[in-house]
Amino acid sequence: METMGGLKRSHSCNDLAVDNVGEAVTLMGWVLRRRDHGGVIFIDLRDRWGITQVVFNPEIHAEVHAKAHQLRSEWVIAIQGRVERRPPDMENTNLKTGGIEIRVDTLRILNSSLTPPFPLDEDVEVSENLRLKYRYIDLRRPFMASHLITRHKVSRAVRNYLDENNFLEIETPILTRSTPEGARDYLVPSRVNAGKFYALPQSPQLFKQLLMISGMDKYYQIVRCFRDEDLRADRQPEFTQIDMELSFIEEEDIYTLIEGMMLRLFKEVLNIELAPPFARMNYEEAIARFGTDRPDTRFGLELVDLTETVRDCGFNVFQSVVKKGGLVKSINAKGCADFSRKDLDGLTEYVGQFGARGLAWVKVKAAGEWQSPITKFFTDEEREAISSALGAEEGDVLFFVADKGAIVHQALSELRLDLARRLGLIDKTFFNFVWVVDFPLLEYDHEQKRHTAVHHPFTAPKEEDMEFLENDPGRVRSKAYDLVLNGVEIGGGSIRIHQKELQDIIFKALGINKEEAEDKFGFLLQALELGAPPHGGIAFGLDRLLMILTGRESIRDVIAFPKTQKATCPLTEAPSSVSRKQLTELYLRPDWE
Ligand code: AMO
Ligand code: AMP
Repeated sequence: METMGGLKRSHSCNDLAVDNVGEAVTLMGWVLRRRDHGGVIFIDLRDRWGITQVVFNPEIHAEVHAKAHQLRSEWVIAIQGRVERRPPDMENTNLKTGGIEIRVDTLRILNSSLTPPFPLDEDVEVSENLRLKYRYIDLRRPFMASHLITRHKVSRAVRNYLDENNFLEIETPILTRSTPEGARDYLVPSRVNAGKFYALPQSPQLFKQLLMISGMDKYYQIVRCFRDEDLRADRQPEFTQIDMELSFIEEEDIYTLIEGMMLRLFKEVLNIELAPPFARMNYEEAIARFGTDRPDTRFGLELVDLTETVRDCGFNVFQSVVKKGGLVKSINAKGCADFSRKDLDGLTEYVGQFGARGLAWVKVKAAGEWQSPITKFFTDEEREAISSALGAEEGDVLFFVADKGAIVHQALSELRLDLARRLGLIDKTFFNFVWVVDFPLLEYDHEQKRHTAVHHPFTAPKEEDMEFLENDPGRVRSKAYDLVLNGVEIGGGSIRIHQKELQDIIFKALGINKEEAEDKFGFLLQALELGAPPHGGIAFGLDRLLMILTGRESIRDVIAFPKTQKATCPLTEAPSSVSRKQLTELYLRPDWE
């Protein structure tokens, strides 16, 4: 093996073009492909920036050519040579460097490589486990590298924008106490304090509020957060937030700031001009029309409420659900009458995952005739009323779910997305932002038999709703907001409570007594009494935002070293066992051995 021996790169593998013909250059990189053509060896040399074709010709340099025979995929080399124009029939107009090649005079082999565990072409399907085990190989693939480059550009655009808007970037502790986001904590046992634990922060929520109380006025941080949750394609145990907090502001100030940030970011990273202000929808409307608080409004298929229409109908399933206070809602799948029995059964099974006990359907035939197992339960007038509420026409399929409100909404919102994907209704080139506002402050938790905070317990209620707190707490709306992009919640925040008296009232409504409040959040409560300014903030899921910007289906594709669905790292094999000595030092006694 050789060394670089003082050679310096003159260009990257994406720099050279026809203008450089005749220049002497030095390139370094990886062997992507080797092709032997009638004695001449062609190598595609790759680095982070691109690919350059280099040529070893036996008639020009027999020795160098002989050496090039050894080269295999992913060997690391340095070459010196001269830029030449490719013969016209060998040009590759897809590559910036496609008009030239380098005729090699010197070859240094800097390292060999075992055969890579998988080929680097994007179109080769590789299991995710293998990709994660050899993540450094996976990241050599240009499309994966491009995600990290986009990630860098997004962070840079955010930093520049917030800096120009007078924000300070301030770090907050990782070893800390439990924060109020409500997921399960990751705990770290303390060696020097027997039986005590740190919690890794689920977000910097309490610290950023303290920073407002300390007068920092505008704070941000691109920060890692930790939540021990069941994982999904858009959830990781550690993920990154663009976290911010501001003093002396109201909701409108946040909307303006964030719309400006998105405008800047999309322009700088994707060269796309967004057109704020973004649409706003209140929570109630989002649930009613889309069944979810993260509505994807790029397509129709909206939910239609038929509860009143079917109250007295002859279909026992619907009638009994309505009597028990449930809902009957429906979606009109336009032009889907060619769905087979198998398709319909598949969809029924699909909504079953979300708790729906069935999925009634109607195919609309000519002259408004219904083809459906439930036709017989409805009078002509009822059929007419349902069809008209749904705008039903020949060739449509109507889907119905009857159940408790929460199940109806989840089942139909998932069905809506599934239908849109099947029918190709989603324009992937379109970025659709919606602010969801006016969230309820509290929700009833049937397991704990008490109200819990929808956002977190420091979220301010709307003053005009305070009168309902005592007798109808579910009706109180909060000053919380989410930003939804293409049906994904990319960010959320709220105006906070900054006065101790109001905080006490809200804790009471949440059934958190004085001792518990003192124990968990005493330091914040104390600070509220020492000159806390009005303040509020928001945090964005950077990984989720990037997933959408890069058009990927999983946030794992935009994180350099993500975890699997089971929260493991195939590369380092974390989490791993530790020695008994380490456990003893931490005052932990294993019962799993
Ligand atoms: P919230 O809990 O809504 O708010 O989180 C803010 C944003 O973080 C992203 N996110 C996640 N991304 C990947 N994996 C996860 N497990 C995960 N959990 C959340 C989402 C979400 O919108 N402190 C408050 C913010 C505030 O009030 O200012 C907070 O953390 O995109
Ligand atoms: P059944 O009378 O149980 O044979 O149901 C007739 C049709 O109604 C079937 O297509 C079921 O999928 C559907 N169905 C049953 N329960 C519900 C429900 N809760 N909501 C919507 N459709 C239902």
